[in-house]
Amino acid sequence: MPKTAPHRTTGTAAPLKLEDFEPAARAVLPQDIYDYIAGGAEDEATLWDNRAAFARYRFRFKVLASADRPDLGSEVFGQRFTMPVHLAPAAIQRMAHQDGEAAAYRAASDAGVAYCLSTLSSVSIEDLAAAATGARWFQLYLHPERAVSAAYIERAVDAGFSAILLTVDLPKTGRRERDIRNAFSLPDGVAYANLESRRRTATAEGPDPFAQNVNAHTSAALGWADLEWLLARTSLPVIVKGVVRADDARRAVEAGARGLVVSNHGGRQLDYAIASLDALPGVVEAVGGTVPVLLDGGVRRGTDVLKALCLGASGVLIGRPYLYALAVGGADGVRGMLELLREEIALSMSLLGAGRLSELSQDLLTRI
Ligand code: FNR
Repeated sequence: MPKTAPHRTTGTAAPLKLEDFEPAARAVLPQDIYDYIAGGAEDEATLWDNRAAFARYRFRFKVLASADRPDLGSEVFGQRFTMPVHLAPAAIQRMAHQDGEAAAYRAASDAGVAYCLSTLSSVSIEDLAAAATGARWFQLYLHPERAVSAAYIERAVDAGFSAILLTVDLPKTGRRERDIRNAFSLPDGVAYANLESRRRTATAEGPDPFAQNVNAHTSAALGWADLEWLLARTSLPVIVKGVVRADDARRAVEAGARGLVVSNHGGRQLDYAIASLDALPGVVEAVGGTVPVLLDGGVRRGTDVLKALCLGASGVLIGRPYLYALAVGGADGVRGMLELLREEIALSMSLLGAGRLSELSQDLLTRI
């Protein structure tokens, strides 16, 4: 008899780490929905490199640092959070779980982190606001008709959202070949809840119906004048999501952006775009501490969060892992995912010799 228990696959065992949620979700989701979440654009080079970039760094850890009970508390956009991790905007989450965005938001709220609702959500702005009381941010895709965008902003303000994240890396939807192969389109019973009903179910024909559908609701001509329009339209802090260049970062902040998200949309837009972590130091240096810089793309470990913070990020957003956790266990799944990440961050801070987030600096990292 072998002394150890037989090896169990991560698909059935309780998740021990964020990446365990993926096979578990794959087992419960229809293939085309799994592919929509998991996939990236074209060769998926950026999707892969977002992860690989984290593996290019190693820690030069401190010892005898008495970092027994690290403080993960962080502040961003004037709000306090229990850790520097928030949930990224992602479209139509009712295709992962019947409660969709409302369940993910409840989990974020319970965990003391922010939830960012996508413009293309399957739970409306108002219904989300009624689901929990924690920090909620609204992600804006500029609509081709400004009146539609203006209405979104007004509704978000009325519903108590505290920041607007303007996504700027999607003038058009990237070429996601998994979706093309699957002829993926909005699943039955799931609709864009923020759109007027006449626009909601507009089905598109052609080789890539989902992308055409998204393109109908996003502005292909997105430009700096749109950012200026948005800044003039709202007193909520506007955060620009999808920046990888120093010059763009500087210009957005000069225009009045109150924060940036270094992001390539999780490798779903321009393929061979620079990995988020590789873009981070240039953006941080360009804005010189004037506004918070968040990062998303490939964050899967507590050590990933610490690496991003060492390189100057004020926090990170998580995308796919919480969608998988939502598919597997609804709000409980997402709560569990956030707690796993919290435990990893706390343990790694102790081992790194950092008692608080402000002690994280580039000096603790080396690039290999
Ligand atoms: C996204 N993302 C996204 N971003 C955005 O600004 N608005 C949106 O509606 C969506 N929708 C969306 C759907 C799905 C299924 C995914 C996976 C992603 C991008 C998202 O906010 C974030 O930038 C990435 O997901 C971060 O990368 P990781 O954590 O998924 O690697």
